[in-house]
Amino acid sequence: MKEFKRIGVLTSGGDAPGMNAAVRAVCRTALTRGVEVMAIYRGYSGLIEGDIKPLEIRDVSNIINKGGTILYSDRCPEFKTKEGRAKAIDNCRRFGIDGIVVIGGDGTFQGATKLTEEGVPCIGIPATIDNDITSTDNTIGFDTAMNTVIELVDKLRDTCESHARCNVVEVMGRGAGDIALNTAIASGATAVVVPEFPHDDNSICKRIKKARELGKRNFIVIVSEGVGHEYAPALAQKIQEETGVETKFARLAHIVRGGNPTLADRILASKMGVYAVEELLRGNSNKVICERNGDICAVSINYSHVLDAMYKDKLKEGELESITAEELEIMKAEIEEKKSELLALYTVENKINL
Ligand code: ADP
Ligand code: F6P
Repeated sequence: MKEFKRIGVLTSGGDAPGMNAAVRAVCRTALTRGVEVMAIYRGYSGLIEGDIKPLEIRDVSNIINKGGTILYSDRCPEFKTKEGRAKAIDNCRRFGIDGIVVIGGDGTFQGATKLTEEGVPCIGIPATIDNDITSTDNTIGFDTAMNTVIELVDKLRDTCESHARCNVVEVMGRGAGDIALNTAIASGATAVVVPEFPHDDNSICKRIKKARELGKRNFIVIVSEGVGHEYAPALAQKIQEETGVETKFARLAHIVRGGNPTLADRILASKMGVYAVEELLRGNSNKVICERNGDICAVSINYSHVLDAMYKDKLKEGELESITAEELEIMKAEIEEKKSELLALYTVENKINL
C-alpha cells in the first residue's frame, strides 16, 4: 500500500461556509497520524503555480468559526487541460505531495478524478451552499446559507408588514431549489418558485390578492435562481400590477455564501475532514465523502457524478458505460427517494403557507 508522508489540501469552486472547518479537520487528522500537510492556495490555480506552503497545527487554530476559506478559492480553466494538470503534477512531485484532499463541488471532483488517474490520489469533500450533489444528503455550507436566508427574509418581513408590501426574494442554488424550498417553509413565505416543479404566476397573484382581501399585510415570495435571473424581477412587477400590492424585489446573491458556519456545518465539515484523510491513508482515492442517513461514507466520484447527471437529466453519451446494471438500479431508487423528499417538502410548503 502507498505510504503517505505528506498530503495537500485545497478549496476550489464557489466558496461555502464550513470550508475552514473542513481544512482544520483534514490538517489535524493528518498531523495526528504523522502525515505532513501542505496548504495549496487558490484551488487548482495554486497547484499549477506552486502557491503551496506547509500547514502546521497552529495555522488552523481559530478558523472553525470563520466563513470563506483561508486557502482562498478559484476557478481554473487551465486545469481542464492536460498541459495544465502536468504542471500541477510536477508541483506535487516538487513539494513531495503524495495525495490531495480537495474541498469543493462536482467540477472540483472532476478535476480530482483526472489528477488521480494521472498519478496523484485525491479524495473530495462536498462543500457548496447549493446542496446539489445528489450522492450526499447534505453539503457543507448548505445549512449556513439557509440560516442566513431566513435571517434576512425575517428582516424583509418586518418592513413588509409595516408598509403592507410584498417582497419577492431571489436566492442562490444554481439549478437546485433546495435552499429556496427549505427557506420558504422556514420563513413562512406565501409562495415558492423552484426549477424542480412547474410554477404558475397567476395562481401566486390570485393567492396574494385573496389573502390581502382577508386582511393579510405582508407577503414573501421566494424564488430559486435556477428558474432564470429574469424571472423574479418580472414576477415582482406582475404581482404589483395584478394584485395592487406594492411589491419589491431583492436578490440575496453572494451575501448568503459568507458568514460564520452554523453548528451543523461545523460538525459535518469536521466529520468529513476526518473521514477524508482516513480514507486516503487507507489507500482509497477518487472518492467523494458523503453523509447518508446520518452516516459518513465514501462514494466513487464517478458514481456520484453519474448519479447527479441522471438526477439533473444531464447525462452525456457514454457516461452510463462505467455503471453496472446493479448500480443503475440503486441509482434509480436513490433518485426516486430524493425526488419524493423534495415533493414532500413542496407539499408542506403549499399546505401551510398562505
Ligand atoms: P465546483 O467545484 O463548485 O462545481 P467548478 O465547476 O467551477 O466549481 O469547478 C472548479 C474547478 O474544477 C474548475 O475551475 C476547474 O479548475 C476544475 N474542473 C472542473 N471541471 C473539470 C474537468 N472536467 N476536468 C478538470 N478540471 C475540472
Ligand atoms: O455554487 C455556488 C454558487 O453560489 C451558486 O449558488 C451560484 O449560482 C454560483 O455559485 C455563483 O457563482 P459566482 O461566485 O462565480 O458568481
